[in-house]
Amino acid sequence: MTLKNIQLDIDYVRSQFPAFKDLNCKDWSFFENAGGSYVPQQVIDKLNEFMISTKVQPYAEYPMAKNAGNNMDLATELFAKMINANNKEIIIGGSTSINLYVLSNALKYSIKPGDEIIVTNQDHEANISPWRRLSEVGAIIKEWKINPVTAELDIEEFEKLISDKTRIVAVTHCSNIVGSVNNLKQISDLAHKKNAIVIGDGVSYAPHGFPNVKELGVDFYTFSLYKTYGPHIALLYGKEEILKNLPNQNHEFLEGNYPYTINPGGPNHEELVSLIGIHDYMMELYTHHFNDDSLSIRDKINKVNNLISLHEEEIANPILEYIDKNENLRLIGKNKIINKNRAPTISFIVNNRLSKEISDFLVSENIATRNDNFYAWRCLQYLGIDTDDGVVRISMVQYNTIEETQKLIEILKKI
Ligand SMILES: Cc1ncc(COP(=O)(O)O)c(C=O)c1O
Repeated sequence: MTLKNIQLDIDYVRSQFPAFKDLNCKDWSFFENAGGSYVPQQVIDKLNEFMISTKVQPYAEYPMAKNAGNNMDLATELFAKMINANNKEIIIGGSTSINLYVLSNALKYSIKPGDEIIVTNQDHEANISPWRRLSEVGAIIKEWKINPVTAELDIEEFEKLISDKTRIVAVTHCSNIVGSVNNLKQISDLAHKKNAIVIGDGVSYAPHGFPNVKELGVDFYTFSLYKTYGPHIALLYGKEEILKNLPNQNHEFLEGNYPYTINPGGPNHEELVSLIGIHDYMMELYTHHFNDDSLSIRDKINKVNNLISLHEEEIANPILEYIDKNENLRLIGKNKIINKNRAPTISFIVNNRLSKEISDFLVSENIATRNDNFYAWRCLQYLGIDTDDGVVRISMVQYNTIEETQKLIEILKKI
């Protein structure tokens, strides 16, 4: 069977997420996934199991502690396999914002006055402020600005900014407002020619398909696990050859023991272990749709990603088309998803109406959404949008349905 014959079994997907049966959630169309996604039963089970049977200090010799430690290692190992990294390249921290601040602190020591750092005005602030701050140690900050008409980051502008002095390029894989997928591979290739490192923010990308970090070529890549069907923690990938040379920010005796040297302190044990549940869910999704069990975890993820993308395209494109064709509405970003060029994260404003008013109306119709700048305020400001009122954002993932799409369009017609 080719992928064209296989469609995501949406009933199966939704059956894995208890929220859809929960009395408080079940009557809502959930379109705030870019803010945080629901979790499948597998994640809840792993969390419960840990709390019941292994909630002790891990890595001692008695079985409860041994199991706790083994499961923490297993979660790291499985996630490394899912994104094509190795175990020593995975750092689990409290959030992407925290991870990036901690990383910028570690990289600060390699910055000399006059070195250049490129940030964008499309990114969430989490991947801007930590790098802008390095001006305190003499870095010159250059801003890669979006095209004011398309809201996209044009590669020609990047080529004009990058120089022999560029040391760091911080850029989002996918904007949480515009939705466009940026070509991190191309950006990394250009940056590496100048010996600069690339920090990719995958927070708005990873919920739509766990990335292959080696293929992207980035030096660091981060995403928030609470938006990829897990608990409120975040993953930072870093290339081993760079991580091993970063200064130790943890206890003195851990010197040289990377990746534990990056964060001052360890991860949240129970939440780390619950990540096994994300892996199990993804693998069960694979087994439900495909036969060949001999594939690697990464290859299975790839196939599931493709299935999810086709589904997301199908449910998001009618909304993009409706908003784009309606003269009263202003869509931000591309008006169609073609071949994963855009995430189903759809932002818009309405002529002469507050986004808050529109969002309140949608909520009154049981559409879970919101208006905000979503911390990408530089992007909104550049596009001439009120950063307090922000945009209305409809963000979808694999468990949204075509029925929800149709319902939303009918409700949008009432605006
Ligand atoms: C694109 C993007 N980057 C970074 C972040 C920050 O993530 P965290 O909440 O884990 O700090 C967010 C959060 O919404 C985001 O959407």
